[in-house]
Amino acid sequence: MELDALKQTAIEVAQAGGDVAMQGFGQSKQIDFKSSDTDLVTEFDRKAQETIVNIIREKYPTHGILAEEDLSIDLDAEYVWVIDPIDGTTNYAHHSPIFSVSIGLLHQNDPIVGVVYAPAMSEMFVAAKGQGATLNDMPIQVSNIGKISQSVLGTGFYYDDQIIKKNLVYFGSLIHQSRAIRRLGSAALDMCWVAMGRFDSYWEMGLNAWDVTAGRIIISEAGGLVSDFEGGKYELDTHNLLCSNGLIHDEMMAALREAS
Ligand code: IPD
Ligand code: CA
Ligand code: CA
Repeated sequence: MELDALKQTAIEVAQAGGDVAMQGFGQSKQIDFKSSDTDLVTEFDRKAQETIVNIIREKYPTHGILAEEDLSIDLDAEYVWVIDPIDGTTNYAHHSPIFSVSIGLLHQNDPIVGVVYAPAMSEMFVAAKGQGATLNDMPIQVSNIGKISQSVLGTGFYYDDQIIKKNLVYFGSLIHQSRAIRRLGSAALDMCWVAMGRFDSYWEMGLNAWDVTAGRIIISEAGGLVSDFEGGKYELDTHNLLCSNGLIHDEMMAALREAS
C-alpha cells in the first residue's frame, strides 16, 4: 500500500479530529470520569474519535483500529491505526492549548506513519518511515546535547497512585541532575518535543499504545531513540517509555536504574 497515501490520510484525519476539538476548546463542556476522578473524558474526545474513525473505515475497511475511547477492531490486521483523539484531555478541559490529536499507523506491528496535531498551537508533526519527520512541513531533528546536566527533560504522571509515587522518586532524583524537568500533560507532544529538540529526553510509566504510537515514529525519523526503561524494544503492550536524542539514552537508563 502506498506510504504517501497513508500519510495523507493520517494528516487528513488528524486535521478533522483537531477541528472537532477546536469547536469545544475554551468552552464549558460535559466531562465524565474513567479509571479515576482525575482521568477525564469530554464529549469532544468522543466526537473527535468518531469523526476520525469514520474517515478511516470508509477509506480502508480492511484495516484494524485501536482507539482510546473504547474501540478495538481487528488488531490482527496487516495495518492497524492507533488513535488518541485528544491527548491531554485534562489540559483541554481546563482551557490549556497543550493538547493534541495523535494518529499512528502500524504495519505488521511496526509504526510506519505518525501525525501529532496540536490545533490550538497550530503545530503539526508528521513522520513516515524512511521519509524523516517534520513540524509544519519543515524538517526536524533531535538535539545534540550529550549530558543530562545540560538537558531539559519531560515526564508525565499516569492516573494511578502507585505509578505516581514511583515516578516522584525518578523525578526527585533527575530534577537535581538535569537543567530542568517539564510536565506538559500530553504524552504525544512530549515525544514530539524530543523529536524537535525542545526536550532532550522524556520518560513516563503506565502509557498506552494510543499515547505513543505516532510519537515513536516521529522520534525515530528525527534521529532519536525510543525504548523501555531497560533499553528493550518498545512494543504495542509496553507501558514504560524512555525516549531521547540518543546521546543521553544510556545516561538516562542508568539514572532511572540508580534512582529506583
Ligand atoms: C494522558 C496524557 C498525559 C499523560 C498520561 C496520559 P489523555 O493522556 O498524555 O500527559 O501523563 O499518562 O494518559 O488521558 O489526556 O489522553
Ligand atoms: Ca493519551
Ligand atoms: Ca485521550
